Amino acid sequence: TALYAVFGNPIKHSRSPQLHQAFARQLGESLRYETRQPPVDDFAGGFRAFVEQEQGLGGNVTVPFKEDALRLADVVSERARQAGAVNTLIVGKDGRLYGDNTDGIGLVRDLDRQGISLEGKRVLVLGAGGAVRGILGPFLDRHPAVLMIANRTAAKAQALAELFAEQGNVSGGGYDDVTGQWDVVLNGTSASLSGALPPLPVDCLADGAVAYDMVYGAEPTPFMAWASEHGATAVDGLGMLVEQAAEAYLLWRNKRPDTATIHAEMRASLT
Ligand code: ATR
Repeated sequence: TALYAVFGNPIKHSRSPQLHQAFARQLGESLRYETRQPPVDDFAGGFRAFVEQEQGLGGNVTVPFKEDALRLADVVSERARQAGAVNTLIVGKDGRLYGDNTDGIGLVRDLDRQGISLEGKRVLVLGAGGAVRGILGPFLDRHPAVLMIANRTAAKAQALAELFAEQGNVSGGGYDDVTGQWDVVLNGTSASLSGALPPLPVDCLADGAVAYDMVYGAEPTPFMAWASEHGATAVDGLGMLVEQAAEAYLLWRNKRPDTATIHAEMRASLT
């Protein structure tokens, strides 16, 4: 049976095995999809053993290994290079290891699915770490009117904005620099994971704004709660998780799962 795995440390709470089994069931395929937790300082050894000893055919990669995966891959897609990270590894028939990144496309597919458009919109992105770098290319491809990156450490936001300057109207700064009103506010910081909230001005949300948190859970995150209180539509990142996984499945198996029913199934299993 074809074997795949998600690599992370820690990895115990990953939803990816459940997701990929749901895809396989839907498509009438049979595969094994497991978790692997290599030591934090030896992703390469862990992945090589998976391929050579277990005949693994591909892997998803999560925290803290996405940059290690970029270095390990023999061939890296343009979007993964831009993201500075690989979240999907494919063992090629030619024996080479292909690295790709489906996080950004997963996010924009989830936005499409929920009828959230970026075209011509004022888009504010919070955070300037790996998670944000991974989605900027696909976001700018959708032609927002302006995209601002705001971060606690303003210099990191400015550096990221420069990296993507050729692709659109993008600027970077600190939270103090956020002025005016924004149609889509994406929280790509890890603040929610510690129950914290980026210090946004109270009046930064435009009428009908959408607030999207890239993390998810059974309860709304502090950012989502804040946005709802101020009249925005708040969305979590569970849909992005499903969509990035479907894209990875397509890369490995050359078949695209229909995610429509899977979203509800995942949501129900969270509570
Ligand atoms: P990831 O891979 O999840 O992006 P990361 O590269 O460590 O992780 O980046 C974490 C991001 O969350 C950073 O933008 C960080 O801000 P700094 O660059 O200033 O450190 C942001 N972050 C983490 N905790 C935060 C908090 N409590 N409030 C605001 N921003 C926070």
